[in-house]
Amino acid sequence: MSVTILVGAQFGDEGKGKIVDYLSEKMDMVVRFQGGDNAGHTVVNDSGSFKLHLIPCGIFKKGCKAFNGTGMVINPDELIKELTEIESKGVDTSELYISSRAVILMPYHIALDSASEKSGRTGIGTTKRGIGYAYADRARRNALRFENLLDLDYCRSRLDAVMPTINAELEAKGCETFSADAIFEKMKYWAATLGKRVVEPVSFVNNAINRGENLLFEGQLGAMKDIDLGIYPYVTSSNPVAAYAAVSAGFPVKKIDEIVGVMKAFTSAVGDGPFPTEMNDDMSDGFRGTGNNIDDEFGARTGRARRLGWLDLPIVKFAATVNGFTSIAVCKIDKLDTYDKIKVCVGYKLNGKEIDYMPSATELYKVEAVYIEMEGWKTPTNGIRSYKDLPENAKKYIELIEQYTGVPVKYIGVGPARDEIITDRL
Ligand code: GDP
Ligand code: IMO
Ligand code: MG
Repeated sequence: MSVTILVGAQFGDEGKGKIVDYLSEKMDMVVRFQGGDNAGHTVVNDSGSFKLHLIPCGIFKKGCKAFNGTGMVINPDELIKELTEIESKGVDTSELYISSRAVILMPYHIALDSASEKSGRTGIGTTKRGIGYAYADRARRNALRFENLLDLDYCRSRLDAVMPTINAELEAKGCETFSADAIFEKMKYWAATLGKRVVEPVSFVNNAINRGENLLFEGQLGAMKDIDLGIYPYVTSSNPVAAYAAVSAGFPVKKIDEIVGVMKAFTSAVGDGPFPTEMNDDMSDGFRGTGNNIDDEFGARTGRARRLGWLDLPIVKFAATVNGFTSIAVCKIDKLDTYDKIKVCVGYKLNGKEIDYMPSATELYKVEAVYIEMEGWKTPTNGIRSYKDLPENAKKYIELIEQYTGVPVKYIGVGPARDEIITDRL
């Protein structure tokens, strides 16, 4: 039996979907433990190409349970849409379950997020999926949860209690208000459509652990966008770090066996905020592509062109520190195949002095990235499946990541598909 947590080591979009899909082969359950449909996790396998937003990327493995965990904020309409889409491609979704304690992300959360983003004062470049407002309602105890779909009388009384506060906020932001009747109609539909998937989460997860099953917890986003540890306020509203998997699912932290940090061989980010190694648009076009390929650098959720830059090792090391990675998966090494020289950031200077900590956003805007330059390998790596066959300079790149972070690199992605991966490194 083993409990593995898999999280992003940068600003999100590191390739978590691909690695979860690969690892799920050995899993009995894959759990999404935070976030909502702000996620876009790309999977390319025998069933097709997918960009999953809510459904855990383990859904493709026959017999593997997929669980939308307690720490999530779930838009039921989006979940139903996603289920319908993947079912139409022949994927069996009968083993998808939802925590009774997960928060229901409502249409008014989306309206409030969109209104907030339009304002120059509060906009930070969110995905406009309502994430921050759903978590805000959870914190102020105005949220409705999936358990409420199982008791519609109580659900109606909760709705009547919270709607005046919600509508006052909508009015203050110049948005249309919502009637409790209209939301209740939706809830009845969600109860009929999703109610059978709702389970009590703590026993669901702990019983699986106690039966000796293999569980994988799939994170959303990355450490730099953690609400407490990341580049506040340009962060999401949950904790994408490994420890939160235990809080969210309600199991003891000492049960965790492995923590896999997923990183890209360079850096990308979507939304506002500091980005020390960011390249200008002309330079980053080599990484970005045209948008016609599944692995081009456009947001899997919003389609926004991602901001791009060289690898920033202080960020990966910070992620390793706060998460406690036991191994690292490096994705997209193949995207560096054509460069003569590859720059890597190995430190920051603030006011001319090197610093040894990860600053918060205001200071991070001011740092100067310190680079080393490595020789490229100028050889296609896409077809390589064994570490020994990688070009020497690519091996040096991987070894640099290991030396800098102190964490072994166990998986190396050489293409977007499930089998385009090197797994014999360790
Ligand atoms: P996630 O949010 O961490 O799951 O990552 P995304 O799916 O948003 O973004 C990762 C992108 O990189 C997707 O377009 C993947 O298809 C692609 N990708 C993942 N691993 C590799 C890899 O090793 N090589 C290449 N070329 N593309 C990859
Ligand atoms: P995955 O799971 C990249 C970014 C948004 C914004 C900030 C807050 O695919 O890695 P939110 O909508 O969460 O309130 O936005 O976080 N963001 C992501 N960036 N990948 C994601 O998910 C993201 N989810 C949110 O762009 O900067
Ligand atoms: Mg993504």
